[in-house]
Amino acid sequence: MYYPGLEGKNALLIGGNSNIGQYVSLLLAESGANIVIACRDTKRGNEIAEEARAFGKGEAVVVKTDCSDWEAIENAVSRVHEFGAIDILYHGVGGDWPGHFLDLDPELWDKLYQLNFKNILMAYKIVLPIMKQQRSGCFITMSSVMGRIPTPMEPIYGALKCGLIYLAQTLALDLGPYGVRINVVAPGPTPPKDPDRLSEGSLLKTLIENKELVENLTAEILPQIPLGKLGDPEACAHAVLYLASPVTGGYQTGQVIGVDGGWWMPK
Ligand SMILES: NC(=O)c1ccc[n+]([C@@H]2O[C@H](COP(=O)([O-])OP(=O)(O)OC[C@H]3O[C@@H](n4cnc5c(N)ncnc54)[C@H](OP(=O)(O)O)[C@@H]3O)[C@@H](O)[C@H]2O)c1
Repeated sequence: MYYPGLEGKNALLIGGNSNIGQYVSLLLAESGANIVIACRDTKRGNEIAEEARAFGKGEAVVVKTDCSDWEAIENAVSRVHEFGAIDILYHGVGGDWPGHFLDLDPELWDKLYQLNFKNILMAYKIVLPIMKQQRSGCFITMSSVMGRIPTPMEPIYGALKCGLIYLAQTLALDLGPYGVRINVVAPGPTPPKDPDRLSEGSLLKTLIENKELVENLTAEILPQIPLGKLGDPEACAHAVLYLASPVTGGYQTGQVIGVDGGWWMPK
């Protein structure tokens, strides 16, 4: 699907090669943006880049990146600068090892913090000064319905995803006067359409192999979702495109779009 106003725009996608991120990459490419996919699994990244180039519009580049490595992110940013300004940043890194708090190994605390929060802090710290200087830019991070509704099986992940909303809104206040927009998408449970299209390191890959856990989680979750079904990664990517494109006249910042079947209904 084509979104207007994105031709020739430049986007960095940190985690643009897996479940939701791959569709963000492809929708941006279909809309004519130049994309730089920063990820560890470059095989998957290159497959997406090839699909992106098939639209025959913008450029599609893959940069091997560990998003916890400061220099690697700076390198990915410099690849975007080869096209010009950095107009859009999608940060799709995140994941969980579900379990009740009392059962979780404390060794996971730091890993969850690094994966779901510190990586995003670093990207903000590197990219926001550039967007501020440009006096333009759109930064989108991925929270979760779990960051809005406390869920016993996702205690630390949920707390960190809640923190991402707070952080985005704080930064949106700070950077709004410079024309920089910071928004959040909060998906509900969104399994892959095709497990072969997940990156090697995606935690979803490990999760869906545990069929019993998936069945139990689904049975617990579904009755709480008004629309009675799980999410679709491609549909979720459209929420990112809505925020990235100028269809709302660039007049949205500090917003959270839920794509969660109505599980969370903000007042
Ligand atoms: N799917 C859901 O049910 C769901 C629900 C709510 C919220 N979310 C959130 O939505 C976002 C996207 O989720 P998803 O479903 O697309 O998950 P995913 O398929 O597991 O994608 C995670 C992405 O992060 C990248 N990544 C992980 N560690 C990295 C690292 N150290 N350096 C660079 N890239 C790294 C992965 O690529 P590489 O492995 O190649 O690096 C992959 O592209 C996440 O923040 C997730 O928490 C997802």
